[in-house]
Amino acid sequence: MQSMYEYAVWRDSQDEVMRPGGLDLTRELLDVCEPKENAHVLDIGCGCGASLRLAQQRYGCYIFGLDISRQLLLRAKNRPSVYSLIQGDVNTLPLAENKFDLILLECVATIFGEETIFSTCRRLLKPGGKLLVTDLYARKGDGLPEIRKLRKGTCIQGIELKETTLRNLEACRLKLFHWADYSAVLKNFPMKTLSASLQIGMFEMVMAANSVNLGYYGMIAEK
Ligand SMILES: C[S@@+](CC[C@H](N)C(=O)[O-])C[C@H]1O[C@@H](n2cnc3c(N)ncnc32)[C@H](O)[C@@H]1O
Repeated sequence: MQSMYEYAVWRDSQDEVMRPGGLDLTRELLDVCEPKENAHVLDIGCGCGASLRLAQQRYGCYIFGLDISRQLLLRAKNRPSVYSLIQGDVNTLPLAENKFDLILLECVATIFGEETIFSTCRRLLKPGGKLLVTDLYARKGDGLPEIRKLRKGTCIQGIELKETTLRNLEACRLKLFHWADYSAVLKNFPMKTLSASLQIGMFEMVMAANSVNLGYYGMIAEK
């Protein structure tokens, strides 16, 4: 069965990224992280690998991508770049501990569940390593019970309030380094695409987004 992220509308989007903000946002946050040359960077749920190519070209990093979708990884593989790409489920894959200088979670923490993925990242990061997260979030909590009734495993169904995300980070012994609101990027993001690929009706999607005043954030944390 086709995964909701293998839809051509995502894959063929500008920059080949499947989230709001595109590579401009990744570039801005990578510049805050300042990874060193040869730093080991892992992108969990890397899709077509566009952010990894950026980390390699801009900083000379060693890049590693993990995604469950073979189709998206094959697309990444076809690009001129040196990768280690792994196909698998983040929840079951045994990755080496204390190995990475930087981990990217772009629009996936809401899919995997924050507490689970933050604690996995803490285990995989070297001491002092950084975690870069971008995702949807709720700017008010009233609508969250309705949002939780949407299709499971979608980014919108797993959104949290900022204070919950920061609490989850702390519970996983990761220190906040940088947090910024990027909700303006949602203005240029086609809700129609999101609703079609996640198989959530357009009306339901807009109602849900309004009920939580849907926002987008970028965050960097440190082990
Ligand atoms: C919203 S897309 C984000 C892709 C990419 N990070 C980006 O920003 O363009 C979510 C990605 O997570 C991957 N994914 C979903 N569940 C996964 C799992 N259990 N393990 C690994 N990857 C998964 C999907 O195949 C998809 O590429």
